Amino acid sequence: MCRLAPEARRWPALAPLAFVLLTLCNLSPLGGADTFFPDKPIRDNETLLSSGGTFRLGFFSPGGPDRRYLGIWYEMIPEQTVVWVANRENPIAGSSGVLRLDKDGNLKLYDGNRAVWSSHNSSAGLPVESRPVAQLLDNGNLVLKEENDGEDGSFLWQSFDYPTDTLLPGMKLGWDLRKGLHRYLVSWKANDDPSPGDHSFMMTLQGSPQLVLMNGSNKVYRSGPWNGVRLSGVPEMKSNGIFTFEFVSNNSEVYYTYQLRNGVVSRLMVTSSGALQRFVWLEQKWSPYWQAPKDQCDSFATCGTYGVCDSNDSQVCNCPEGFRPRSKTRWELRDGSGGCERETPLDCRPGGDDFIHRTGMKLPDATLSVTEGTMSMDACREVCLRNCSCMAYASADVRSGNGCIMWVGNLTDLRHYTEDGQDLYVRVAASVVGEKRARATGGEEGKEKTVAVIVGVTVPAGLLLLLVLGVCCLRRKMRKKTETSRVGGKEVSSGKITREDDLELPLFDIGTVAAATNNFSEENKLGEGGFGPVYKGELEEGQSVAVKRLSTRSVQGLDEFRNEVLLIAKLQHRNLVRLLGCCIEGEERILLYEYMHNKGLDSFIFDKSRSELLNWRMRFNIILGISRGLLYLHQDSRFRIIHRDLKASNILLDTEMNPKISDFGAARIFGGDKEDTGNTRKVVGTYGYMSPEYAMDGVFSVKSDVFSFGVLMIEIISGKKNKGFYYDDSYLNLLLLAWKLWKEGNCRELLDETMGNSYSPEEVMRCIQVGLLCVQERPEDRPTMSTVVLMLGGTNPALPPPQQPGYCMGRSPVHTGTSTSAGHDDSCSVNQVTVTMLEGR
Ligand SMILES: *[C@@H]1O[C@H](CO)[C@@H](O)[C@H](O)[C@H]1NC(C)=O
Ligand SMILES: *[C@@H]1O[C@H](CO)[C@@H](O)[C@H](O)[C@H]1NC(C)=O
Ligand SMILES: *[C@@H]1O[C@H](CO)[C@@H](O)[C@H](O)[C@H]1NC(C)=O
Ligand SMILES: *[C@@H]1O[C@H](CO)[C@@H](O)[C@H](O)[C@H]1NC(C)=O
Ligand SMILES: *[C@@H]1O[C@H](CO)[C@@H](O)[C@H](O)[C@H]1NC(C)=O
Ligand SMILES: *[C@@H]1O[C@H](CO)[C@@H](O)[C@H](O)[C@H]1NC(C)=O
Ligand SMILES: *[C@@H]1O[C@H](CO)[C@@H](O)[C@H](O)[C@H]1NC(C)=O
Repeated sequence: MCRLAPEARRWPALAPLAFVLLTLCNLSPLGGADTFFPDKPIRDNETLLSSGGTFRLGFFSPGGPDRRYLGIWYEMIPEQTVVWVANRENPIAGSSGVLRLDKDGNLKLYDGNRAVWSSHNSSAGLPVESRPVAQLLDNGNLVLKEENDGEDGSFLWQSFDYPTDTLLPGMKLGWDLRKGLHRYLVSWKANDDPSPGDHSFMMTLQGSPQLVLMNGSNKVYRSGPWNGVRLSGVPEMKSNGIFTFEFVSNNSEVYYTYQLRNGVVSRLMVTSSGALQRFVWLEQKWSPYWQAPKDQCDSFATCGTYGVCDSNDSQVCNCPEGFRPRSKTRWELRDGSGGCERETPLDCRPGGDDFIHRTGMKLPDATLSVTEGTMSMDACREVCLRNCSCMAYASADVRSGNGCIMWVGNLTDLRHYTEDGQDLYVRVAASVVGEKRARATGGEEGKEKTVAVIVGVTVPAGLLLLLVLGVCCLRRKMRKKTETSRVGGKEVSSGKITREDDLELPLFDIGTVAAATNNFSEENKLGEGGFGPVYKGELEEGQSVAVKRLSTRSVQGLDEFRNEVLLIAKLQHRNLVRLLGCCIEGEERILLYEYMHNKGLDSFIFDKSRSELLNWRMRFNIILGISRGLLYLHQDSRFRIIHRDLKASNILLDTEMNPKISDFGAARIFGGDKEDTGNTRKVVGTYGYMSPEYAMDGVFSVKSDVFSFGVLMIEIISGKKNKGFYYDDSYLNLLLLAWKLWKEGNCRELLDETMGNSYSPEEVMRCIQVGLLCVQERPEDRPTMSTVVLMLGGTNPALPPPQQPGYCMGRSPVHTGTSTSAGHDDSCSVNQVTVTMLEGR
């Protein structure tokens, strides 16, 4: 098995040694130590470094040298990112600060003789004869413990119990009811002032536990109660291979926590401006990954009591059936804060009331709610119906559909989600439900007609998508099934990936790989990629493999390597190249792929003699295959993956000329559905395939992949390479040529003549049009891959007319390969007036 561990993981092995040395020799705590003792204080010019080198504790001064604070920050991250502050209310004026471990067993921070901060009563349980030590753990936790206790014992005191504005992986946000400990986040007052600001994020226990973002004592946003899978107010929250979210609620503890895997660095914080923000360290900067509040419906009680907020609706606030706006005038002026009132009062006698069923809801404010952990939904309904103050009920655990949460007061802060909301049953007078039923049956006839029309139009296309999705699901299911049956509680001996989450792949030793590739001989070399050479190899069983050997010197290559293994090990699709295993030994980083006999697509389409081998049918199948592979990356796999370097040479062809997308070294992964754009200073990719917004501003999204796909389509059709992004008057790039010919109705001229007459004019026209739609300058105008798959598969879909392609004008193609963001004197077609659309024919 081969396991990928970040480099840092090697270090903990040395920690005990350092510890022993320190203990034996009683060394003073220098920059490299992670532990310190009662007799050796830490002065302003000294620090502690956690054993794995991840965090450092020391003094810092965000707002000038006259205000020094003791804090913990990330060691490896160049822009100092402080995750914990001790004396946030009492800065030290100069460099006179000293952190001591006092004889009474408390950590105390002194400014001269004045104590400015202390770890409270941490010595309470300390036996008389013991010797306390303080240690900075590699997860960022500063702990106080008895000298001989391990790193996971129960600590006398830990900084994780007293968070500032940041929730690190493994920290608990919430209550330890036995100790009466309430852990919650409080923002900094300003970016340069760690003193407590107005904003906090906490677990409230009134009613059912829920997470709430506060401004002073006002609720600003609710992440809401836990529903067994996620927080009700964060539909995009999904445990994936990187994040695992956990919620514990029992008699002794109520808390929320998360874990990170795959060496990803991420933190959740309350910003001084009052937002809840999750950052991920990517490409040498903190990228925003998630944030709340996001839209007006996230603001607490935007639509008052009983009002349902839907940011996708033109009328943001709506009343449920049986309710009407309390103030019609204000409602019409788009002020929903007055909320809704009942049209018919509740009856409360047996049979007098009933429930309306709302789907896709965020659960209302849980302050006035009670939870019954194990009750069935039927029992929940009965109990709620019998109690006149029960206004609504829902399932407390969407996994089992059981558990009962009941609201015993007016419902506030309701909102509707298009996806991933929950079922909520709202109490209304029985007559309301009766009327609704009557309306539903009365209006059916008219409805059926429209439904029929819509179905008629979309079925062929829809069926195809369903088929694509279905095949993927089925494949995934089948894979899981066979795995579990093979696994039988143990690891699979064949060395297959046991669980999708595990980064375990068959591991090959260097001897095997060397033997397979004839000791990496020149004859076996297939080519040289950006990150090292690729060899053809043959395993002992006779299986052909492509062996990608990472050049050892390139640091960037190592990241790319990690990235590629992490990503591709989880992906399974017939149009993605399959990773068979890897080899990590010493400096060697090697990937083994299934061998693609027909090599890269570029070796066909840009080669006049070989391109004759590709008739239109094959080209069309290649286009379809790539589109499905890309759709899987964007939407169907468990992550949203942006490839970022889609080009002809990264499309490999198997013996049947099926295309497989390869080279995920530049790919980016996105967890949620919302955060699907990124920004990077390091633009990787290949000019000619890059969308203008990516090449110019480093903004990438699924739509930049769509752009590259569009370029690829036009290249496949024309047999010409889109040489560059830049052009001057004497040189028209391929996209502009295609656009010009399309406008002139002269598409025939664009086609690769080696195709002869093998093509269907209708299919070719459709492909050119889809290609041009994909390369439009504005990302929002470009279709998504699901739409592309539909457009390509449909027999006669009405395609929108394309707008002018995106391109950039510059003096010379100065930017090649990897580069930083391009200069600003290049002018791009972005924001320029687009040519009016002419009918293409
Ligand atoms: C820190 O400063 C003190 C005096 O202020 C000095 O004696 C000591 O050597 C310094 N320590 C380090 C590690 O620079
Ligand atoms: C520490 O313990 C003492 C006695 O048990 C108590 O009076 C005091 O309030 C405690 N201090 C803190 C900060 O908890
Ligand atoms: C927080 O509340 C204060 C006082 O109510 C208000 O002035 C301020 O604008 C609020 N801040 C945010 C970010 O809403
Ligand atoms: C509460 O849950 C935590 C975490 O699952 C567990 O360790 C603890 O034993 C539980 N306590 C009780 C009283 O159930
Ligand atoms: C209704 O439910 C509330 C909350 O659980 C409870 O306090 C109240 O006693 C119940 N009323 C009746 C009549 O059962
Ligand atoms: C619910 O709202 C109505 C109308 O505003 C109010 O009269 C009633 O007191 C509220 N009930 C509760 C429990 O807050
Ligand atoms: C709004 O609608 C779009 C498209 O249907 C959907 O993707 C998005 O999640 C919706 N937003 C909310 C907040 O429901």
